[in-house]
Amino acid sequence: MSGSVRLEGLSVSYGGTRRRNAGASGAAPVLDAIELEFASGSFTALLGPSGCGKSTVLNTVAGFVRPTAGRVTVAGTPVDGPGPDRGMVFQHYALFPWRTARGNVEFALKRLGLSRPERRRRALAALAEVGLAEGAEKHPAQLSGGMRQRVALARALAAEPEVLLMDEPFGALDALTRTRMQELLRELWQRTGTTVLFVTHDIDEALALADRVVVLGGSPGRVLADHALPAGPPDPDLRTLIARQLGSP
Ligand SMILES: Nc1ncnc2c1ncn2[C@@H]1O[C@H](COP(=O)(O)OP(=O)(O)O)[C@@H](O)[C@H]1O
Ligand SMILES: [Mg+2]
Repeated sequence: MSGSVRLEGLSVSYGGTRRRNAGASGAAPVLDAIELEFASGSFTALLGPSGCGKSTVLNTVAGFVRPTAGRVTVAGTPVDGPGPDRGMVFQHYALFPWRTARGNVEFALKRLGLSRPERRRRALAALAEVGLAEGAEKHPAQLSGGMRQRVALARALAAEPEVLLMDEPFGALDALTRTRMQELLRELWQRTGTTVLFVTHDIDEALALADRVVVLGGSPGRVLADHALPAGPPDPDLRTLIARQLGSP
């Protein structure tokens, strides 16, 4: 229950001047009455073509975007802005270039009201967890893309969130680094029991990582399909089915 997430009739329209599908408010709906429930400790991939509203779903759970209708609850409590129970990892790591890896993680812990030594302890522990103990005193410019993304992951994990939100986090990495990061993420997830919502437009990544794949699509975005993945290697028939649902080859 502690990390359960529910989207209840979730609709989002961004205010603006776009005319297409404009409703009474003048804004085009991006998400339309989404109903989804993610069990505490589950690992779900949200898969869909670019522009279907995947990031909007995550940003609404994170509390960065407010629903136009419906609501999001985490552990039964309505989301009313960002909070330390939810950690976010973006594709572009958004690290402070003038802070070290440790400094970046410590900075993210400031809002928790921890003492300086406790922030340091937690930052070093989180960096060790992602295999970056050696790089703790390095600056982002001295780290590879994969290492920077490890810092971003450590930053999200250091606050010990119940829910980990990941928005195409490995999209900018080369294939080998990406595979390593996927393995690391699975390991961390198994160890922490965090609820993971992982956005990707890559069907193979979704199948490799998650226990459940939710296919989003359409305009406004809605749930097209919801698959529980069997244990074991990816099923080629399921891949074909999901590819068809995505409308891609
Ligand atoms: N802050 C915003 N203001 C206005 N429109 C936005 C904003 N963010 C996203 N959109 C629009 O909402 C739609 C869904 O975007 P997004 O959630 O980023 O999709 P995805 O992550 O699946 O690519 C797109 O049409 C996008 O242009
Ligand atoms: Mg996106």
